[in-house]
Amino acid sequence: MAILHSFLSLLVLVLSLCPLVHLSEVSANNVHHNVKRSQIRDELGPLLSKGAVIVDSESGNLTEATKRWQVFASPTFNAVVQVATENDIIQTIRYANTHSIPFLAVNAGHGEIKSLGNLHNGIQITIRAMNKITINGDTAVVQGGASNLDMTTALWNAKKYTVTGTCECVGFLGPALGGGHGFLQGYYGLAADQLVEARVILENGTVVTTSNTTNSDLFWALRGAGHNFGIVSEVTTRIYDVPSADTWYYENFVYSGESIEQVFGQLDKVKRDMPAQLQHYAVFFRSADIDPVNALISFSIMYNGPSSEAEKWTKPFRKFKPLSNTNGTYTYPQLSGITGNGINDAICQHENLNRIRYPIYLEGFKTGQGKAVFDLFNKTTGQYPALSNSLMLFEGLADQGVEAVQLDSTAVPLRKYFVLASPVVTYKPDATLDTVAQDFGRNIRTTLQNFTGSTELHAYVNYAVGEEALESMYGYRGWRIAKLKTLKKQFDPQNAFRWYAPIVQSAFSGY
Ligand SMILES: Cc1cc2nc3c(=O)[nH]c(=O)nc-3n(C[C@H](O)[C@H](O)[C@H](O)COP(=O)(O)OP(=O)(O)OC[C@H]3O[C@@H](n4cnc5c(N)ncnc54)[C@H](O)[C@@H]3O)c2cc1C
Ligand SMILES: *[C@@H]1O[C@H](CO)[C@@H](O)[C@H](O)[C@H]1NC(C)=O
Ligand SMILES: *[C@@H]1O[C@H](CO)[C@@H](O)[C@H](O)[C@H]1NC(C)=O
Ligand SMILES: *[C@@H]1O[C@H](CO)[C@@H](O)[C@H](O)[C@H]1NC(C)=O
Ligand SMILES: *[C@@H]1O[C@H](CO)[C@@H](O)[C@H](O)[C@H]1NC(C)=O
Ligand SMILES: *[C@@H]1O[C@H](CO)[C@@H](O)[C@H](O)[C@H]1NC(C)=O
Ligand SMILES: *[C@@H]1O[C@H](CO)[C@@H](O)[C@H](O)[C@H]1NC(C)=O
Repeated sequence: MAILHSFLSLLVLVLSLCPLVHLSEVSANNVHHNVKRSQIRDELGPLLSKGAVIVDSESGNLTEATKRWQVFASPTFNAVVQVATENDIIQTIRYANTHSIPFLAVNAGHGEIKSLGNLHNGIQITIRAMNKITINGDTAVVQGGASNLDMTTALWNAKKYTVTGTCECVGFLGPALGGGHGFLQGYYGLAADQLVEARVILENGTVVTTSNTTNSDLFWALRGAGHNFGIVSEVTTRIYDVPSADTWYYENFVYSGESIEQVFGQLDKVKRDMPAQLQHYAVFFRSADIDPVNALISFSIMYNGPSSEAEKWTKPFRKFKPLSNTNGTYTYPQLSGITGNGINDAICQHENLNRIRYPIYLEGFKTGQGKAVFDLFNKTTGQYPALSNSLMLFEGLADQGVEAVQLDSTAVPLRKYFVLASPVVTYKPDATLDTVAQDFGRNIRTTLQNFTGSTELHAYVNYAVGEEALESMYGYRGWRIAKLKTLKKQFDPQNAFRWYAPIVQSAFSGY
């Protein structure tokens, strides 16, 4: 942890030395309401801490500072404020309000939803440097800019861990504010369920503490709909002792499409008595090296325990003629890397790709469901080679810990599911493909939903594409959305936080 912190403080130092020395001439380009770019530096700059850095197109590389994981319908910014303190956030929000400039907090930049693209010419408040983690016994105080890797590393060094997202380069709070799925959820619930307190900077620049006992309604909303209410500068989260003999057995299978019915039939059986120790991922993908003609299936089991115990779950899958079958035993922090979610993996590079995701929670698999989706995936990626880096994910997450939390106690609307399914339609930006790409994703999701026999679509808010009804993301029980709207009126009356899965679409209206 010490090494990480000194590295990051060095980074902040280096960054703070460069752009600020290049104060250039007053630009003729207006940001918004006649605020000139350099005016942001001249007026806001002096109000910020020494560690803060302002980047605009004259003082630094704005393109670099606003890079995102997925670029379809990206927000646009005229300036970036890389904050170092809570007060920097407050000053930036106040400044933006004074000049009617829209703003957005950005941590690791993995937010995918199209609604982000409604933000034009704003100020990006980059909170990534605020990533301090302080361990106090059974809880940790975590700043708003920590990443999943920051969390896992800091906690593991103290022989602790907690529920975080599985991908190392993703923010910790971005997932947690919408629920937060992770490898440990079978035991402890979602990342949001671990929060005991959150400090939030509201739209008007006021800081409030929220918890079970203080501003408890806002605390309720933050856990599930949190991106709509403010910028969370710091949370206190529960953490857990790592058991003394904590190992994860991992086994991976690659199959051709011929095994699809067997694999998905077996998966539906796994569902019936899946233990909290088990997680599994199935992925449809294409690899020209393995098979230039057909899409393939990768299936992995992660089991928190020895291979002898995992055998019950892995053995049936060996019968279905895998093209390859590999295994290994790992520690908890190695799981991200082993599943392709590590900081050095392709998934963690911001590669200027459209990656459009259409999520749906499923309670199980119906006969023919996996095959229908596999055939559609194979056909479309075959027909449009530009889409052949697309993935179809089925994340099988144990939900005992999630279900154990009382359903009404947070804004997370759904606590019972078996698989989080989502096509991630992936391609280099090319407007001529946008219709085909989106139809591909929509078709897969509709196909999956048709097999469920339900008209209710349940979509994880943090995977949502932005076409979903509010009920899909925030729940079909009428009181949930009503309560969220009431809280919006109270804590965000101008609707400044309307860019990420917005409960209310437009500024100053819709109430
Ligand atoms: C490769 C990949 C892997 C993923 N894996 C998982 C996973 O394992 N589990 C899971 O649950 N989800 C996962 N997700 C989805 C993830 O929860 C969302 O993409 C999340 O919004 C990303 O947060 P970020 O900080 O990386 O992105 P950003 O784009 O920086 O932030 C996303 C949104 O959260 C808001 N936000 C971020 N931090 C704060 C804060 N401190 N206060 C207020 N608002 C804030 C931002 O304003 C923005 O609206 C994954 C996504 C990707 C792309
Ligand atoms: C700015 O950053 C982008 C993206 O990383 C890069 O492609 C570009 O070359 C950079 N421009 C300058 C002037 O450094
Ligand atoms: C809220 O308080 C109740 C009663 O003290 C407790 O059981 C529950 O665990 C608390 N929830 C959180 C999120 O702290
Ligand atoms: C794991 O893989 C090794 C080869 O690397 C093999 O010898 C062993 O049998 C495999 N274990 C199981 C449980 O499949
Ligand atoms: C996959 O699609 C290709 C066309 O790209 C087709 O030739 C092949 O038969 C399909 N494979 C399966 C298993 O359906
Ligand atoms: C789903 O079902 C509806 C209604 O039965 C039908 O109109 C539609 O074509 C189906 N879509 C897919 C992709 O299967
Ligand atoms: C900001 O909004 C909150 C919530 O409505 C309110 O309690 C607080 O007084 C406001 N602060 C200012 C400075 O207006």
